[in-house]
Amino acid sequence: MNIGIIGYGYTGQQHARAIAQIEGVALKAIAESDSAKRSLLEVQSFTDYRSLIDDPSIEAITVCLPHHLHEEATSAALLAGKHVLVEKPLAINVAAGKSLCELAETTSRVLMVEMTHHFLPPLQEAKKVIANGDIGEIMAIDEILVEDLGLFGSLPAWMLDRSSAGGGVGLTSGIHLLDHISWISQQKLILNAACFGYTQQLGNIEDTASFALTTEKGAPVHILLCWRKQGVGLNGQLTIVGNQGSLKVWPWDRIEVESGKKAVRQDSFFQEGSTIAERALVGMKGAVQEFVDAIRQKRLPDPAPFDSIVSQAIIEWSYQRSSAK
Ligand SMILES: NC(=O)c1ccc[n+]([C@@H]2O[C@H](COP(=O)([O-])OP(=O)(O)OC[C@H]3O[C@@H](n4cnc5c(N)ncnc54)[C@H](O)[C@@H]3O)[C@@H](O)[C@H]2O)c1
Repeated sequence: MNIGIIGYGYTGQQHARAIAQIEGVALKAIAESDSAKRSLLEVQSFTDYRSLIDDPSIEAITVCLPHHLHEEATSAALLAGKHVLVEKPLAINVAAGKSLCELAETTSRVLMVEMTHHFLPPLQEAKKVIANGDIGEIMAIDEILVEDLGLFGSLPAWMLDRSSAGGGVGLTSGIHLLDHISWISQQKLILNAACFGYTQQLGNIEDTASFALTTEKGAPVHILLCWRKQGVGLNGQLTIVGNQGSLKVWPWDRIEVESGKKAVRQDSFFQEGSTIAERALVGMKGAVQEFVDAIRQKRLPDPAPFDSIVSQAIIEWSYQRSSAK
């Protein structure tokens, strides 16, 4: 299966590494507007992504563009008969995302949103622990994510501009947390309140987001996200309190289960000393593999494209109710 990548920045390069690890698929070409990035690879490259979409030998495309360009590139690829894996969020807003889901149905193409966290082993294990009933019924959930921007060198300028990114940390990182909490708990989330902070003065987007939610069975959920200028760290921790035990998850590292029924258990999932980018690649490889399997087996991918839109709708509604517009 020949695959093309549109947008060869940080994530496009991660997708290329993931594709190289998957049997029976080959990276045929990339489309990238920056000539320096086009010369990083020895595959065919285009400046204009329409030329890549027009290549009949390419069956599937991954879209790794700034958020405001997802809709146009994805719809052009679907209409040209390609299967498409789009980086999150599916589109810059919920309405455009819904249109893309409908277009995938009418063109009978596989459309998948690259929700890396579904393929991170500690979060997959957390889902099993909850499903097994090891900690009983969920009573409360708390998650914090502090991302130091030095970890990424710097964020691309488009990500700091609401017109091209659609939002700040609440959308770009928050969509993962809202989505994986709902997925692990297998419950819908209901929004009670949200607030956003701008103390780091990163362009015109929020650097801090806080969501207060309730699961459909009534358990309180709190999410706190920060992008911080100083430092090079990543501090993420999810705590789920059950009526028979509790679970702590470090999504890029390990889990700890404390259960009334079993002794405390700790599992690590990554090679010691590996970087965050290497650990994130494990998730991206899982997502690309699922996309390829869904194409081969002519089925909906898991997660289905609409799933992430539910989380995006909560974030979009929060923005509309706050001063972040
Ligand atoms: N799943 C994850 O964990 C994860 C992590 C980081 C980023 N992302 C997502 O990946 C996507 C891309 O983010 P990024 O960090 O790679 O950004 P980036 O800026 O590093 O990469 C985007 C690339 O697109 C190129 N580009 C812009 N306009 C173009 C056009 N018209 N034609 C061709 N190329 C064009 C840019 O030159 C750039 O190289 C976003 O949706 C982001 O949210 C996902």
